[in-house]
Amino acid sequence: MTQRTAVITGATSERGIGMAVAERYARDGWGVVILDLDGARTAEVAQRIGSEHGVPAFGAACDVADEQAVTQAHAAVAAEVDAGHLPTIGAVVNIAGITSPVPFLETDLALWNKVMAVNATGTYLVTKAFLPAMLEAGWGRVITMSSVSAQRGGGVFGKVPYSAAKAAILGFTKALAREIASSGVTINSITPGAVDTNIRVGNTNPEIEARIAADIPLGRVATTDEISGVIAFLSSDDASYLQGANIDINGGSHMH
Ligand SMILES: NC(=O)c1ccc[n+]([C@@H]2O[C@H](COP(=O)([O-])OP(=O)(O)OC[C@H]3O[C@@H](n4cnc5c(N)ncnc54)[C@H](O)[C@@H]3O)[C@@H](O)[C@H]2O)c1
Repeated sequence: MTQRTAVITGATSERGIGMAVAERYARDGWGVVILDLDGARTAEVAQRIGSEHGVPAFGAACDVADEQAVTQAHAAVAAEVDAGHLPTIGAVVNIAGITSPVPFLETDLALWNKVMAVNATGTYLVTKAFLPAMLEAGWGRVITMSSVSAQRGGGVFGKVPYSAAKAAILGFTKALAREIASSGVTINSITPGAVDTNIRVGNTNPEIEARIAADIPLGRVATTDEISGVIAFLSSDDASYLQGANIDINGGSHMH
């Protein structure tokens, strides 16, 4: 198989989905690029994952909501590919995201803009930067991160701005899928329910946790490996006929 590179945003959080996804790509033999806010941390995580799995890896600072930062990060990655340090880009996985538990009337425009910017605008900017190389190669995978909150109308701590931003990602995914349909590049989204990561820290307590678990037919939240496994499938040739699709990964908590 041709070796390719997966670009993963939001992949430096300890116990986070992005880190599990980066590790899974590396385990499957892909080169890995990690884009996240802290440049030193992205380099450290990329270095660790690359050496543990014996694959090329590169980390760059990138606030996904900042167009200039995305342009710079893309240029740095493209230079690594051109220099032969990384295989050609084959997947872009938009995982960077923030949530907000603030009730609607207590939100302000700054909070709304921030949550929309990181989740939705970040997905737009990063996808737009890395898509041309995959279109040129005639093969690629874009994966976007929505949430059950977009489908169900909020979650325990993902309220209106978060649900709106994650719903925007579903529309983005379907419309872009239609535009690039026969290019060899696919774009699909996932809608996880609750996943055991640090995004929940400060937003939950044992009582809320018990309520969340009771509401899930499987009786527990997902592990990060249960998310990265689906992303590995979407990145494979087996998923070649999925275009603009969404995959629910919610333990049965929302069926439709
Ligand atoms: N954990 C869950 O229950 C759950 C459920 C559904 C969807 N999601 C989504 O999955 C994604 C990852 O969630 P997680 O639980 O691993 O969260 P997390 O907080 O552990 O990780 C988020 C990562 O995004 C990075 N990030 C934040 N803002 C950024 C920015 N502006 N630019 C670049 N990187 C930025 C953070 O540094 C961090 O590495 C998010 O989009 C989240 O909305 C999570």
